[in-house]
Amino acid sequence: MLQTKVDSGLDGVIVADTIMSEVDGEAGRLVVRGHGLQELVAGRGFEGVAALLWTGYGEGGGDETAVRDGLAAARIRAFADVPRLLAVTEGLTPVEALRVGIGMLPDSDPTPHHYLVCGALPVFLAALINARRGVSAIAPDPTLTTAQDLLRMIRGQRAGAVFEKGLDTYLATVADHGFNASTFTARVVASTHAGLISAVLAGLCALKGPLHGGAPGPVLDMLDEIGAAAHAEAWFDEAFSKGTRLMGFGHRIYKVRDPRADVLKAAVTTLPSTAGRLAFAAEVEKGAIAALRRHKPGQRLETNVEYYTALLLEALEVPREAFTALFAVGRVAGWCAHIFEQEKGGRIIRPQSNYVGPRPQ
Ligand code: ACO
Repeated sequence: MLQTKVDSGLDGVIVADTIMSEVDGEAGRLVVRGHGLQELVAGRGFEGVAALLWTGYGEGGGDETAVRDGLAAARIRAFADVPRLLAVTEGLTPVEALRVGIGMLPDSDPTPHHYLVCGALPVFLAALINARRGVSAIAPDPTLTTAQDLLRMIRGQRAGAVFEKGLDTYLATVADHGFNASTFTARVVASTHAGLISAVLAGLCALKGPLHGGAPGPVLDMLDEIGAAAHAEAWFDEAFSKGTRLMGFGHRIYKVRDPRADVLKAAVTTLPSTAGRLAFAAEVEKGAIAALRRHKPGQRLETNVEYYTALLLEALEVPREAFTALFAVGRVAGWCAHIFEQEKGGRIIRPQSNYVGPRPQ
């Protein structure tokens, strides 16, 4: 079996300037268009963060009301595609089915494409969750925000203010995060002028992996397997002996705790009946950090966003298999902003490789 040298993963390589967000991995700080994360989510919901990210780009960018109206109209538009989507996605996981759904959106659609995809994702996701439960798709309500409407479409009725706020905080928190793998992928595709829908689809495909947006479902699987805090140490030692990675821990950029973990943990505390689950998760988290120190000394591995994402989405009663697809509902705002930025100023992204194969005689 041929094996070339393990690639660098572009570790530490700066590939572009951006005005979207800064991830300071040493300070544990995230800045989105000039706003620190805590301040950002205290003052803005998902539509507000999307408006901020799109300021200076795209139709309606900067104006939260215009973004809210544009997304509401796009949700209505997307609902017409639901029967076609459900007809061809039986047996697929929600994120696999979203991949199909985005792929079905035509480049020729007159709706501004950032609205088209950002409006379609929550409608498709709710319909997919319902279909897997044998429930008919519920039409969107254009008077609501994305978070309010998504929970309503999943549950069949308004969820209540604390739940809606919890989801809104989640979507706003994950909307953008520097040149993560999915955003970078979207920018590579955008750099070829393939168009926003294709670039978003590529971003979703990168997000789907368990090392990126696929981690929160397995976090809950891990908590279930551990079962009780007293079993955590033995479980972790066994996991390391098998070379298993601890989901929800470690990050390429953050060498300290991911600041999004604290924001999402705080959001869980606002939801009813979460105290026991949170206390258990916090104990397991402590054990995981201790095990990482024991088994990976010298590596600075801390809790990342996905650990408390899992707890929050569980408390919001989102089915586990839909977690990655729900991540996309938030992150798509950032992908669109980066696509605008790339299309406006960037050249085609075309790095080089080091050829180490045989040469002709
Ligand atoms: N559990 C156990 N060991 C780990 C973990 C982990 N979660 N993360 C990294 N390591 C170890 C690796 O085994 C490696 O050890 P070694 O040098 O002894 O072989 C060392 O730390 C460095 O690992 P890399 O893979 O080089 O680190 P990288 O920066 O490339 O990976 C990543 C970052 C993919 C997030 C990694 O930490 C990971 O796999 N975490 C678990 C999955 C996860 O939670 N992903 C969500 C990330 S947040 C997001 O994308 C939204």
